[in-house]
Amino acid sequence: MQLLDGTSCSKEIREEIKKDVNSIVARGERPPHLAAVLVGNDGASQNYVAFKVKDCKEVGFDSTTIRLDETITEKELLNKIEELNHDEKIDGFIVQLPLPKHINENNVILAINSKKDVDGFCPENVGNLVLGLPTYISATPNGIMELLRRNKIETEGKHCVVLGRSNIVGTPIAVLMSRNTAPGNATVTMAHSRTKNLKELCLSADILIVAIGKTEFVKADMVKLGAVVIDVGQTRVPDSSKKTGFRNVGDVDFGNVKDKCSYITYVTGGVGPMTRASLLQNTLKAHQRR
Ligand code: GUN
Repeated sequence: MQLLDGTSCSKEIREEIKKDVNSIVARGERPPHLAAVLVGNDGASQNYVAFKVKDCKEVGFDSTTIRLDETITEKELLNKIEELNHDEKIDGFIVQLPLPKHINENNVILAINSKKDVDGFCPENVGNLVLGLPTYISATPNGIMELLRRNKIETEGKHCVVLGRSNIVGTPIAVLMSRNTAPGNATVTMAHSRTKNLKELCLSADILIVAIGKTEFVKADMVKLGAVVIDVGQTRVPDSSKKTGFRNVGDVDFGNVKDKCSYITYVTGGVGPMTRASLLQNTLKAHQRR
């Protein structure tokens, strides 16, 4: 079993981005600038945004965090997005999800100018992804593809099972893995909560990508010997032995699954850092496209 190391792989990407930022600044241009909109006080979202800001600083990007109260109305949030759409100093921005229940996430995503949508969530960018046209590929699927590419994992002709059909991960990664690219060219099955014979299906996977949001859902008896397993799940579980009071648990029962795999990611240092690096890549692209 070999651990797919998202920490070192993402470091490599950040080093590449740093070099590009140095050249941009040496030409007398301003560095790329990412804005992050954070609504409310969700602990995990606050952490994710803090990491995104830290990453920007490390590679030499400018960043702005816009903190909005939990009680903000949808209209007020849409007005803020309109402001960001027209702000010349900001190359790209994200609205951290999930949003409070009273705000319709689709309305928010539809309001973001596709040229600044570095999350790659809006219809134009998702459509371009499906058509194989230049786009912002959303960060987690792009991070997984980079992890496979940089570890030279063969995907052509393999059976890839994707567990989960979310707009953010399951759907785009299924499209990317099936495209005529390297990595890609896999035969993809997308499975979800209504799929029958899930265990048998997983057992037939050469590559298993798990984004189902259920802790330790994938057990050892669901994994083929020699499979590549990518765990996207990250759920906070209370743990009084930790300073933070919680630990992150993935969608894969790592302890029991790992010995069956050729390659596997762990809940920390796996897909997470790759997602963060991909957002930086998209922000650099947004700056280049201006
Ligand atoms: N919430 C969980 N993942 C993401 C992401 O990639 N982007 C945004 N904006 N919110 C998220």
